[in-house]
Amino acid sequence: MPVANDKRPVILTGDRTTGPLHLGHYAGSLKNRVRLQSTHQQFLLLADAQALTDNAREPDRVRRNVLEVALDYLAVGIDPTVTTICVQSALPALAELTLLYLNFVTVARLERNPTIKDEIQMRGFGRDIPAGFLCYPVAQAADITGFKATIVPVGEDQAPLIEQTNEIVRRLNHQIGRDVLLEARALIPDIGRLPGVDGKSKMSKSQGNAIPLSASSDQIRDAVRRMYTDPDHLRAADPGKVEGNVVFTYLDAFDQDPLGVEDLKARYRRGGLGDVVVKRRLEKVLQTLLAPIRERRERLSRDPGFIIEVLRKGTSEARERTQATLDELRGALGLSVLQ
Ligand code: TRP
Repeated sequence: MPVANDKRPVILTGDRTTGPLHLGHYAGSLKNRVRLQSTHQQFLLLADAQALTDNAREPDRVRRNVLEVALDYLAVGIDPTVTTICVQSALPALAELTLLYLNFVTVARLERNPTIKDEIQMRGFGRDIPAGFLCYPVAQAADITGFKATIVPVGEDQAPLIEQTNEIVRRLNHQIGRDVLLEARALIPDIGRLPGVDGKSKMSKSQGNAIPLSASSDQIRDAVRRMYTDPDHLRAADPGKVEGNVVFTYLDAFDQDPLGVEDLKARYRRGGLGDVVVKRRLEKVLQTLLAPIRERRERLSRDPGFIIEVLRKGTSEARERTQATLDELRGALGLSVLQ
C-alpha cells in the first residue's frame, strides 16, 4: 500500500486485458514484478482501454479479462496489500494526459515505432489502422508518467515504447522549462522473449502457441509433448541442436538447476540423449511451477467479490495519484484560466 512520503522508486507496468496471461508473461515480467514489490512502490495497470485499441469489436471479452488478468496477478504472488492493482479505463486523468501528449508527437514518429510496425503487420491491419492503435504508445506514455514511474518491468518488445515515452517527457519538460515529468527505464529480463511451443515467434495466445498460467496438468503435458525441438534430431543416438530448441530454451528460463541443464545440453549435442528424456524433465519443471499458481487461481476465482474489492481500492488510489500529475502538468502548461 502506498504510504505518504514513500521514497521508494516507483514501478508502473501493465497488461492488455485481452486474455489470461501465459508463461511468456511470467518469464518476461511477472517474475520481476513479484520480486520487486517488497522494495519498490508498485502499480499494476489492467490496460482495458489499451486492449480496445485493437479489440474495439469485442468489448465484452476485454471486460471479462480484466478479472482474469487480476486473478493471474494474485495467483503468481502479487500481494494486493503492497502492490496497487488498478483499472485503466477508470482513470480519466490518463485519457486527458494522452490528449495533451498527442500534441508533442508526430504521426511520422508513431509510424516509425518498431513495436507498432510489428504489431500492425501481425494483426494484418494493412492501411486500416485504428487511430487509437497508432497512438497507443502515447497513451502508454501517459500511463507511465501519470504515475511518475521510473522503472517499467516489461518484455523486450516494449522497449521502443519506453523510448518514445522518454522523448515525450523531454519535449514537455523542455516546453515547460523544468522537469515536471520523469524519464523511465525499461527493466527487461536477460533471457529474452520466450518463444511459443511451436518455436515460431513469441509466445502469444492469438498464435495458439501459448501455455496459460491456468493450464491444467494435462494441457501442460500435451504442450510439452508437442513442443518444437531439433527437426533433424531423428534418433536418440544422433547429435542434436540446442539453439532454437524450445525445450532447452524453456529449461533455461524455468529450471532451478542450471548446471544440470548445461550437463543435459552437452549430452544432447554429443548424441545419445533422446527428446523424450529432456521433455520429461521440462514437464516436471513446468508442473511444479504451475501447480501452486493454478490452485491459488482456482481458490481466488471462487470469490470474485474479493477481487472487485481489491480493484476498487487500488483504482481509487491510482485515480488520486494520476489526477495530481494532470493538475500539476496543466498548471505548468498554463491551462489554468479558470483556476
Ligand atoms: N503495452 C502493454 C501490453 O501490451 C500493456 C501496458 C499498458 C503497459 N500500459 C502500460 C505496460 C504501461 C507497461 C507500462 O501488455
